[in-house]
Amino acid sequence: MTNAEYSPGLEGVIAAPSTVSYLDLEKEEIVVRGYDLIELAQKRSYLETAYLVIHGHLPDERETMAFGERLKEESALPKGAYSVLEALPRQTNAMDALRTGISLLASYESPEVLQDNSTAANLIKGLRIMAKGPVLACNAYHAMKGQPFVPADPKLGFIENVLWMVHGKQPDQESTEALDLIFTCYIEHEMPNSTFAARVIASTLSDIYGAITGAVASLKGPLHGGANEAAAMMLLDILKQGGPSKAEEYIMDMRSRHERVMGFGHRVYMRRYDPRAYLLKDYIPKFTHKKPEGEELYAIYRTVEEVMFRETKLYPNADYPIGFLLYLLDIPIPLFTPLFLCARIPGLVAHVVEQHADNRLFRPRVLYQGPRGLHPA
Ligand code: CMC
Repeated sequence: MTNAEYSPGLEGVIAAPSTVSYLDLEKEEIVVRGYDLIELAQKRSYLETAYLVIHGHLPDERETMAFGERLKEESALPKGAYSVLEALPRQTNAMDALRTGISLLASYESPEVLQDNSTAANLIKGLRIMAKGPVLACNAYHAMKGQPFVPADPKLGFIENVLWMVHGKQPDQESTEALDLIFTCYIEHEMPNSTFAARVIASTLSDIYGAITGAVASLKGPLHGGANEAAAMMLLDILKQGGPSKAEEYIMDMRSRHERVMGFGHRVYMRRYDPRAYLLKDYIPKFTHKKPEGEELYAIYRTVEEVMFRETKLYPNADYPIGFLLYLLDIPIPLFTPLFLCARIPGLVAHVVEQHADNRLFRPRVLYQGPRGLHPA
């Protein structure tokens, strides 16, 4: 193996053939099952897009209804799951609690079903994970806060239920539409670290629960999904430090300490605008009224973006506007990354199905740089 074959971080390496999605840089398009994700986000609901991602075609009305009903039927958590959430130490990170919860769900499948990696079995298990994901995420958060659990309400739609379980009150239409858009933007994104992690695990013929549990651990990292929380916290910190007039200095200080500004830059887009971030930035002004500090934070948001572009030529990725939007929707910050994971479950399911259906074990090599020829005494 030579240096020429080694690509740090596997940059530019094609890891698998796929029919799920593709980042077409030339056309600036996120191709999802043949459609442009941005157009889907503008014209179709999260549920319809989830069906497309998982099944490969856009559903008709009947299929959408049946899909929504199946999700409702599968949304109840096993009783034991609530006991496990309650037993976790209160200091548990919300992503870690979600990871534990998804891992736990595997124990409620019969060994035969759990081990069955056929497409039919994976689609059934995948739907269960998608249905229970937000219930786990929101209630893990409540458990950590010592708050009462809020199970899913069968009268509500999938996205409405997420807001219901976060806030424990009937969501308004404006917030539901915004969260639907955010979830659709997050639904699938080719081969990020978490999807790769899921496929690597699935490639050993391990089950879909294990693959998605691994993806949760990957997505937690601040270089990946954790960036949405970090971006929102930075905006709030700038507000605390003096507001919009301090934003430029704050970023310049970060740059002088060689710190990364979360929510900027992307391995694949590099110095291009992430189409999801481009779409979502126009939605922000519609939601700033939801928080008293919304307008001030928006001024900070814009200054940070301007300074980052001037200094680094880096654009925001999706986590920058989404971190801000989730804050404006009054979602608690520790839930940002768990909800990103929930939104991504259809994409993860589609990739695990694809991996199991045409599997080859992932087993790369190293560029060995250690000693050789040593002998024990
Ligand atoms: N802030 C400041 N400088 C940055 C940033 C940033 N956010 N991102 C990249 N750079 C600089 C980096 O310091 C380096 O500069 P130099 O060449 O002078 O050393 C150059 O840009 C290239 O960076 P890199 O780390 O080699 O690029 P990468 O492809 O490994 O990084 C990234 C991609 C996403 C890890 C990185 O841009 C980053 O750390 N961003 C902040 C975290 C973030 O927002 N993550 C969410 C990613 S997008 C959604 C997803 O896929 O989950």
